[in-house]
Amino acid sequence: MAFEVRAATESERGDVATLIREMIPGVNADLRLEWLYEKNPAGRALTWIARENGELAGCTSYFPFRLYLDGDETLAALGGDGYVRPKFRRRGLGGLLHDAARNEMADHGIGCMYGAPGAMNLTPLKHGGSREVGHVARWARPLRGAAIGLGMAPFDRLVRGILRPRFVPHLEPMSRNDARVDEVWEQFSTTIRLGAVRDATFYTWRFLEAPAHKEPSYVIVERGHAIGACSLEVMHGGDTMRIVDLMAVPGAWHRCLSAIVRHAAETDAKHVDIKLMALDGRQRHMWRAGFVERDSKPFLVVIPKTGDRRFLDPMRWFYCGADSDLDELE
Ligand SMILES: CC(C)(COP(=O)(O)OP(=O)(O)OC[C@H]1O[C@@H](n2cnc3c(N)ncnc32)[C@H](O)[C@@H]1OP(=O)(O)O)[C@@H](O)C(=O)NCCC(=O)NCCS
Repeated sequence: MAFEVRAATESERGDVATLIREMIPGVNADLRLEWLYEKNPAGRALTWIARENGELAGCTSYFPFRLYLDGDETLAALGGDGYVRPKFRRRGLGGLLHDAARNEMADHGIGCMYGAPGAMNLTPLKHGGSREVGHVARWARPLRGAAIGLGMAPFDRLVRGILRPRFVPHLEPMSRNDARVDEVWEQFSTTIRLGAVRDATFYTWRFLEAPAHKEPSYVIVERGHAIGACSLEVMHGGDTMRIVDLMAVPGAWHRCLSAIVRHAAETDAKHVDIKLMALDGRQRHMWRAGFVERDSKPFLVVIPKTGDRRFLDPMRWFYCGADSDLDELE
């Protein structure tokens, strides 16, 4: 048996597409390759591929992301599309793929790779040098009676009326390269120490150009001024409105949450929820907007062997749903 793990070449695009189709059944692999691997404004994906005796066995990728670190822009990568075909699993191949990626990241100028991986990928990532630097938690808020066991029509409507915020900013659809997103990002960036650059270029690519078109994006407007930007996805057969991503100008985080809750309350959704770094979410006092902390999963970071340790500081990170390689959560 001979494992071969190395950077994929242009001529292996078809092999990567084959693996993507197995990894995400029903996906349009060509559109995914074009969007995520080739047209990302931060740079083309770096992909490593594994074979055993020449047979295609698995892959993993780094998707370049521009990160804002203590006021400066730096290049990093979101880790994603890690996949080993079932018959090759549990023999160390996942770990070898992550190892190969880590060994080459410095050559590509990538300061860190980060993400909140699925359970199966945790140990292989740790074998490849990733460290658990914190947790990503989900915060949820009920919107109507049915969300708290009062599903009968009169109670449901009554509770919805009580829970619905009043006199809040409103949501306007975002356009491509929306200047209002740059305005919001410029102000939001002063409030975070480490996180993806969420400017109009990024939001346009990450949400408006995403092939699934399942995550519409909005600018949150108050008295004619943009105070936030977000992307939303309806999940669980319409029961949940997920705030995929959110940023707000200083002091407006809760007003933006209330605007989204108000927007969601006009739909059939029973809950609205959002994922954030657990420490960050607690510091934002999510309970003030009616959100309760629920489940969580580990957040992992890998840096080159002599890399910048600020990437390993859980207190620095702002993480939300834009930090994901999926353009459709359901
Ligand atoms: C994740 C994946 C790439 C790992 O590939 P692999 O070659 O099996 O990984 P390794 O052999 O290096 O590591 C195997 C370890 O992963 C963990 N693991 C594997 N399957 C697991 C499972 N079902 N549940 C929990 N942990 C699991 C175990 O710790 C295992 O070690 P063990 O065999 O000693 O118990 C592969 O399982 C896969 O493609 N899964 C489906 C897609 C996926 O989940 N991708 C990750 C998205 S973030």
